[in-house]
Amino acid sequence: MVDIILGLQWGDEGKGKIVDYLAGNYAIVARFQGGPNAGHTLIFDGKKYVLHTVPSGIFRSGIINLIGNGVVIDPITLQKELEAVRAHGMPFEDRLLVAKKAHLILPTHRWLDKASEAAKGKAKIGSTLKGIGPTYMDKTGRNGLRVGDLMDSNFDKKYNNLKDKHLQLLAIYPEVEFDIEGEEARWMESLSVLKQLKQVDGEYFIQNALKAGQKVLAEGAQGSMLDINFGTYPYVTSSNTLSSGVCSGLGIAPQQIGEVIGITKAYCTRVGSGPFPSELFDETGEFLRKEGQEFGATTGRPRRCGWIDIPQLKYTIMLNGVTQLVMTKVDVLNQLTEIKAACQYQVDGKMTEALPFDLEQIEHPVYCSWPGWNQDLKNINSFDGFPAPLRTYIEDMEGLLDVPIKMVSVGPDRTELIVKNAGVAV
Ligand code: GDP
Ligand code: IMO
Ligand code: MG
Repeated sequence: MVDIILGLQWGDEGKGKIVDYLAGNYAIVARFQGGPNAGHTLIFDGKKYVLHTVPSGIFRSGIINLIGNGVVIDPITLQKELEAVRAHGMPFEDRLLVAKKAHLILPTHRWLDKASEAAKGKAKIGSTLKGIGPTYMDKTGRNGLRVGDLMDSNFDKKYNNLKDKHLQLLAIYPEVEFDIEGEEARWMESLSVLKQLKQVDGEYFIQNALKAGQKVLAEGAQGSMLDINFGTYPYVTSSNTLSSGVCSGLGIAPQQIGEVIGITKAYCTRVGSGPFPSELFDETGEFLRKEGQEFGATTGRPRRCGWIDIPQLKYTIMLNGVTQLVMTKVDVLNQLTEIKAACQYQVDGKMTEALPFDLEQIEHPVYCSWPGWNQDLKNINSFDGFPAPLRTYIEDMEGLLDVPIKMVSVGPDRTELIVKNAGVAV
């Protein structure tokens, strides 16, 4: 079976931490989409690691980590990540595999990303500028280069053809600064690191593992509201971030999917442009940003903060077929006397729970409210030990969302996680 962990909001829900915790129950952890736009933070033994391309099971010994077919890879970022993993001292060379059909991000893809954003001016997506959009455009446009092409004797020719096409395209955009010679030299050098990794036919690799009875954990990147089909288009990423993306991203069939574990923060954040109905522009928003350290793991940009949004979560739970929930960053709310959630929207003067075509059509959300628990959660080691207002809040959320909350994260460290009926994570 393939279980899935994915984000139900606009990304940064804490996926990396939960994948790292659960990885030990699986033979394989596989990324199925996205690329170095992702920043997944793992904190353990007093150290912090931010993974962009490498799956978050890499620090669990004996677990295979696969960069799947649906991922786009920048070898420069990958090289840097692997240096950090190597510094940790745990060997990974025979545990990190790359699917041959994963696409490559070229330096000119990043250049195009930057130029395209500059051309959009105020309407920019707020892209991470990692070249994600242009690389997926070349994939669907059938021009892309894949990991498997690295072994082709014509690779240089293919690379130069694509680069030339990009240079022609760049002429239609405003000029932006980009050190193409330097970036190209770094890229070519970093290819040697990528080439050292074991390349596999990802679909056969996963299917053979499943046939042998092994369990696979698929690690989502970004969030469901950034999905190319059902997110807040055009302010989205360019990949399929939903559970359906696991089928196309790894080469598995729908009936091979088991649990779909959806992660939500106890509030909500968004980085980059686009609608965010429950965004807070007041001191509570500022408090959440400060207390939750809401600054991008990839770009360092301040994240926009707001209340949790029930209709939005119901929408992404529906699209993903979520079977269990994890709520993270609950500790960030410890000091608040009142905790709110958007429970309905007003659209065209009427109340609704349905997300309109464009979330900008929402006139205002209607909020429900809970009393805060006003208490530190440090020494609590079970759901039953939570303060009564927090227990009520969790039970009410389960009722509203109609999915059980199986884990509650109460701090950034690996051990700051309370698992229902099992206590503190180890
Ligand atoms: P991801 O992209 O979904 O893996 O999430 P990020 O790593 O981008 O962002 C989550 C941030 O919150 C990271 O800095 C984590 O260390 C931190 N974090 C995760 N869980 C918790 C939690 O329960 N409480 C607090 N305070 N921080 C958390
Ligand atoms: P993780 O996996 C939060 C956002 C960008 C921008 C939009 C498009 O860490 O949750 P892109 O570079 O993909 O073309 O940017 O998507 N975005 C993310 N926001 N977390 C992420 O990943 C994100 N990856 C992309 O900020 O608004
Ligand atoms: Mg992140």
